[in-house]
Amino acid sequence: METLEAIKTRCSVRKFSDRPVEHDKLMTVLNAARMAPSWANLQCWRFVVVQDPATKRRISEFSYVDSFFAAKGYKTNPSQLALAEAPVVIVACAQPNQSGDMRGQQYYMTDIGLAAENLLLSAHDQGLGSVFVSIFEEKPLADLLGIPAYISIVGLFPLGYPQNESSSSSPRKPLEELVFYERWQR
Ligand SMILES: Cc1cc2nc3c(=O)[nH]c(=O)nc-3n(C[C@H](O)[C@H](O)[C@H](O)COP(=O)(O)O)c2cc1C
Repeated sequence: METLEAIKTRCSVRKFSDRPVEHDKLMTVLNAARMAPSWANLQCWRFVVVQDPATKRRISEFSYVDSFFAAKGYKTNPSQLALAEAPVVIVACAQPNQSGDMRGQQYYMTDIGLAAENLLLSAHDQGLGSVFVSIFEEKPLADLLGIPAYISIVGLFPLGYPQNESSSSSPRKPLEELVFYERWQR
C-alpha cells in the first residue's frame, strides 16, 4: 500500500476477529515502530507484547478508569473489550530519561507518538487494525507486567484482524481552520 493511501484509509479498530496475528506480521509492526524518529535517536521506547488470554483480560480490567469514565457517564471504556479480545496487545512504554526535556516539554511522549503512528500504519498496511488506548491504571498494569518504576507506560495497542472490514475514518477539521501562512491569523 502506498504511504498516502495508508494514511488516508487507516482508522482506529476496536473490534477484532479471533483470527491469530501471524508472527511475521507482528514483527513487521514492531520493526516499523522501532524505525520511527526519536529525540537524538535515543529510542526511548520499549514494547511488551502480550498474547496470553488471562493477561489480556487483566489489562482490559485496568483500562476502565472510574475517575475518567464515570465522570463522563460511560459504563465502559470503548476500547476496553478490544484489549481482551484482540489476539495481541502491545504495551508501549518509554524510559523518559532517554529522551529530551526542553521548555518543560517531555519529548518521550512525542517519541512514542511517532512510533505509535508507524505501528498503526504498518498494521493497517498488512490488513490488521489497532487503536491507541491511553486510559488505564498504570500502577497495577506495571505490577502485572513487571515493568520497573523508571519506565512510563504511554499506550496500549490491541492488534488483530478487524471484525468489520468496512470501518470508516473519523472526520477531520478542514485545512483552512488549521493552517496559517506566514503569520498566525484569525
Ligand atoms: C494519544 C491518543 C490517545 C487515545 N486514547 C484512546 C483511548 O483511550 N480509547 C480509545 O478508544 N481511543 C483512543 N484514541 C483513539 C482516538 O479516539 C482516535 O484516533 C480518534 O478518534 C480519531 O479516529 P481514527 O483513529 O479512527 O482516525 C487515542 C488516540 C490518541 C492519538
